[in-house]
Amino acid sequence: MAGAHEATQPKELAATFAPGLLQGQSAFVAGGTSGINLEIAAALQRAGARVAVMSRKPDNVASALKHLGEAAMGFAVDVRDFDAAAAAARDAAVAHGPLSIVVSGAAGNFVAPAALMSANAFKTVVDIDLLGTFNVLRAAFDVARKPGCAMINISAPQASLPFAGQAHVCAAKAGVDMLTKVLALEWGPAGIRVNAIVPGPIDGTEGMTRLAPTPEARGVVERSTALRRYGAKEDVAAMAVFLASPAAAYVTGGVFSCDGGQMLTGGGALSPDAFAAALGRKS
Ligand code: NAP
Ligand code: COA
Repeated sequence: MAGAHEATQPKELAATFAPGLLQGQSAFVAGGTSGINLEIAAALQRAGARVAVMSRKPDNVASALKHLGEAAMGFAVDVRDFDAAAAAARDAAVAHGPLSIVVSGAAGNFVAPAALMSANAFKTVVDIDLLGTFNVLRAAFDVARKPGCAMINISAPQASLPFAGQAHVCAAKAGVDMLTKVLALEWGPAGIRVNAIVPGPIDGTEGMTRLAPTPEARGVVERSTALRRYGAKEDVAAMAVFLASPAAAYVTGGVFSCDGGQMLTGGGALSPDAFAAALGRKS
């Protein structure tokens, strides 16, 4: 029973998937230079895929490539720039073969009440999370393996649970979930599967540092999950490896939670009070 409450370890994951599961695959991970997405890129690579990562900051790209090793490719590109994203996808496909795994996980977040959020602040997050996801998947479509490409969007609980202080992210990620379903429908006949993962609170990430920066806020978030704890980046990576693999050959248009059961609480715990705690003040 105690084991059930411990975070998944990378060693356990390595033993879960067959060696070479994704051998010969060409993976493109947008936002793949840190946090959850970098862990996904590394897990795809460990499973045998050739990996390319893309994010804005050259320093982040360089440090991700150090982590992934010289077999990986990196592009310093903003997902809001369609032409640059398309050029990166093309270059990755030329080097590694038509894209057979595409992950769209670039995102921006900050906690701010809507009344204190400028129109540009709202637009910035929608542009990165939602327009950026369209750009990445649309760019990848042209150079994707057809049939046989698995596209995976990284959504968030905010897509279906209203979090105070998160109007921009809630709106953007709700759009990502619907985009996942529409593109699955439109691109299914071409043999492209499109799914989304909804991570819950994941330990050691920029996202949770921003959302729950104090021990009190962390406690509120932990209590908002059925498992009463944060997840590990490896937990999300495991779901991505499954969705990319032949085991998910008939899975498309799905939005899958990897959230310790946070969705079951209906967001009640993530009230204005929780975010006031995160901001270190009373609501
Ligand atoms: P993170 O470490 O900050 O990762 C975000 C990545 O996106 C970075 O590589 C960042 O690199 C890149 N990025 C940001 N803006 C970009 C842009 N305009 N163009 C290209 N790349 C951009 O965040 P994380 O906490 O691991 O979150 C990763 C994903 O999981 C996000 O989609 C997030 O919404 C989702 N998620 C996270 C949690 C959590 O617990 N952390 C929970 C639910 C969902 P650059 O700065 O170099 O661009
Ligand atoms: N509260 C209110 N508004 C904020 C804000 C905050 N904490 N942080 C930024 N903004 C506003 C800015 O003031 C600006 O609006 P304005 O022009 O009306 O003043 C707007 O948001 C854009 O800010 P800018 O810094 O120019 O955006 P950017 O494109 O350089 O960076 C962010 C995007 C703001 C999302 C930045 O936090 C980021 O790069 N995040 C990536 C990492 C991340 O968020 N990881 C977690 C993923 S879940």
